[in-house]
Order: sequence, then C-alpha cells, then structure tokens
Amino acid sequence: MNSKHIRLTSNLSIVQRDVIHFPSIDSTNTYLLGNHTHPHGTVVLADYQSAGRGRRGKQWISPTESAILFSIYLRENIREIPIYAFTFLAAVGVFEGIARFVLPDLVSLKWPNDVMINHRKVCGILVQSKTSSEEMSVIVIGIGVNVSQPDSFFKNDLANACSILSATGIRLERIELLNSIADALDANLELLNRSGADAILSKWKRYCPYLGKKIAVTDDFYRYEGIFRDISPSGALILRTETGDRTFHAAEVSIEKEKLS
Ligand code: BTN
Repeated sequence: MNSKHIRLTSNLSIVQRDVIHFPSIDSTNTYLLGNHTHPHGTVVLADYQSAGRGRRGKQWISPTESAILFSIYLRENIREIPIYAFTFLAAVGVFEGIARFVLPDLVSLKWPNDVMINHRKVCGILVQSKTSSEEMSVIVIGIGVNVSQPDSFFKNDLANACSILSATGIRLERIELLNSIADALDANLELLNRSGADAILSKWKRYCPYLGKKIAVTDDFYRYEGIFRDISPSGALILRTETGDRTFHAAEVSIEKEKLS
C-alpha cells in the first residue's frame, strides 16, 4: 500500500489540507481505524478500495477513479458531541459540496445518511468510532461519492443509485469535487463546535424533502408506512403510523421507498 500526497486548495481550518492518497487500499475507514494515531482532521483518499465498507455490514464497490472514496479522522469528546451528529454533518457537507456544481433542487438528503440526486443515491456515509481514552474517541467519517460511473453500472442491487455523471450529465474532476466537499465539511465542523448538534440537524432537515411526506420504513422484520414526522434529539426517525408514532434508530432501519405525495 504505497501512498502519495495531494494538497487541497480550499482554505481549511479543521480538515487537513495535506491528503494521504492511496491508488489502492483495502478501505480508507479501516486504515484510519488502525493502530496509528493521526492529526485531528487527517484525510485519506483512495482511487480504489478492495474491501470498501458500507453500512449494515455491506460491501462498497466502485471501479478505479470513478468515485471519491475518502475518510476523515477526528478526535472528539463524545460526551459533548453525540456520534450521530457526525453522520448528519457529513451528509450536510456532501450536500453543500455537490450543490455548488449541480442544480441544488436536484440534490437532497435521505435519513439517516444518504445523499441523493433526483431521488437516487449518489453518496454513502459510514461513521465509525473507537474509544481512545475516557473522554476522547476517534471518529472516522467515511464518504463515497459516485462521480463518473456510467448509467449501465447501476443495475440490480444498485438500481436506486447513480453517479453525478449518470444523473446530470456533468463530468466533474474528482479533486475539484473533493476540494468543494472538504470546504463544506470544514465549515460545518466549525458550526458544530460553535453551535452544537442542533444547528447541524436543522440544516439537515432543510435539505430533506421527505420530512412531512408519506414514506415506507423497513426494519429487520416489518415494513411500516406513515408520515415522516421528525428526527428525535438522538437522531432517530419518528414515523407517524395509523397506530401511533414509531421511533427508528439508525442501525435498525432503512427507508425503502419514498412517496412524494
Ligand atoms: C453506505 O453503505 O451507504 C456507506 C458507504 C460508505 C463508503 C465509504 S467509501 C470511503 C470509506 N471507506 C470505506 O470502506 N467506506 C467508506
């Protein structure tokens, strides 16, 4: 695993400008969760991952140089900032980073941490953590943004996914997009430090068109239909069903189908 370096051009205060760049690696999340410590804000980028990790134990597969696959390493006091806040923060940052290139009306967020273009998933986020001392935890925010895969790549299991190119016809340069997303993430990390998780959550809600709409939520056993009422203070989805409100936690549910009626 030989690494090189890339220097981001954005003006950043928390996210590090010197990016560790691997042409190929197992997983950028796995790398940062390993035994070494890194400076707060370290970014690792890969052109290809042989064992990319997705949510709920799934794989994350992407052809070489067709996506931005990166992770950010943070050391945080999770008594002060709950871990779920970093998931919402990452989604908000990616939304804002992409919306500088793509009509903002096309971009949206879907609970808990997907970024969508035209209601198809363009980016997945996997936040993982490990405790490093009584107070401090290592938080690794892993982000995969599909940039240039052709439409033909998104079939079978991936039928509800897209790349920026396949959804909009816009061909973006990966490092230019990384600069934009890093810039937005940096601004939101500052906002989180300054104003707390509520400020991030209220932005997230603004970017989510499914709030107040009829949706279906599937957990490990059942599928529920109802109105997407709100996000709870701990980041859970609150669904109003015919039999009352139900609360779903990130690890247990996925939104299967949206009805924008
Ligand atoms: C999801 O299942 O939606 C989350 C996918 C997260 C993928 C990214 S790609 C960069 C980072 N490294 C990984 O192994 N996973 C995340």
